[in-house]
Amino acid sequence: MRNILILGGTTEASALAAALAERGERALLSYAGRIGRPRAQPVPIRVGGFGGVAGLADFLRQERITHLVDATHPFAVTMSANVVAAAREAGVGHILLTRPAWTPVAGDRWRSVPDIAAAVAALAGPPRRVMLALGRMHVEAFAARPQHHYLLRFVDEPDVPPALPRHSLVIDRGPFSVEGDLRLMREQAIDLLLCKNAGGGGAEAKLIAARRLGLPVLLIDRPSMPAARIVHKVDAVLDWLDHPADLGV
Ligand SMILES: NC(=O)c1ccc[n+]([C@@H]2O[C@H](COP(=O)([O-])OP(=O)(O)OC[C@H]3O[C@@H](n4cnc5c(N)ncnc54)[C@H](OP(=O)(O)O)[C@@H]3O)[C@@H](O)[C@H]2O)c1
Repeated sequence: MRNILILGGTTEASALAAALAERGERALLSYAGRIGRPRAQPVPIRVGGFGGVAGLADFLRQERITHLVDATHPFAVTMSANVVAAAREAGVGHILLTRPAWTPVAGDRWRSVPDIAAAVAALAGPPRRVMLALGRMHVEAFAARPQHHYLLRFVDEPDVPPALPRHSLVIDRGPFSVEGDLRLMREQAIDLLLCKNAGGGGAEAKLIAARRLGLPVLLIDRPSMPAARIVHKVDAVLDWLDHPADLGV
């Protein structure tokens, strides 16, 4: 029987886990351990890093993994690079399940920046009320722009308060609705949204809300992904599993 390892932490990984459980496949879902209470899943889970490429390759061999699906977030580039190298080392077929990037439509006022440093640089200027939709990561970088009020949204209550002199913190877990994000942006009088170009439906509500409110958006471009077989749909992963002849390593 094939034995599938899903690297998760995303809506897509959970959807794939559900589809595999439905088919009675043997699958294990791996989390990095960034959040306190992962969602209940219909397949077994494991939590924590593997210890780089060598650790992941060892894990693949020891657990006799036959198929590796990288369904991590599009900005989780270290893990995705490790997958390519470890899968090659262990001789395991792998595939990258990811979401297409968002593209602007009429009414969007987007400005793209290449990375966090460029986003911080773009925030020079008078005080604003910024929805900083980056999760817990990278928040400290914005301490360099203390004139703004930041709206933060985390999955878990942080152990240490965010080091931003002016902020409000909402503890909530996606997927979020357009109505909910509209309400939040209005209540908080947000005048700029800053987020990653993550893609996907679960995180899109804030962009639709910003469009409806006519707000500008600072969008951090995606990092480039390592060369891998890339698919955007759970069904495409199932097809790949069902066609072993296509199992490139
Ligand atoms: N980056 C984002 O914006 C973002 C947003 C939402 C969710 N996430 C999720 O959060 C997790 C961490 O993201 P990141 O950007 O910190 O990743 P990253 O920088 O690419 O990875 C850093 C290290 O975390 C461990 N790791 C990452 N994903 C893992 C997984 N699914 N299972 C086990 N270990 C994992 C690996 O440790 P070892 O080298 O020790 O194996 C990896 O080298 C990922 O699962 C990702 O899907 C990330």
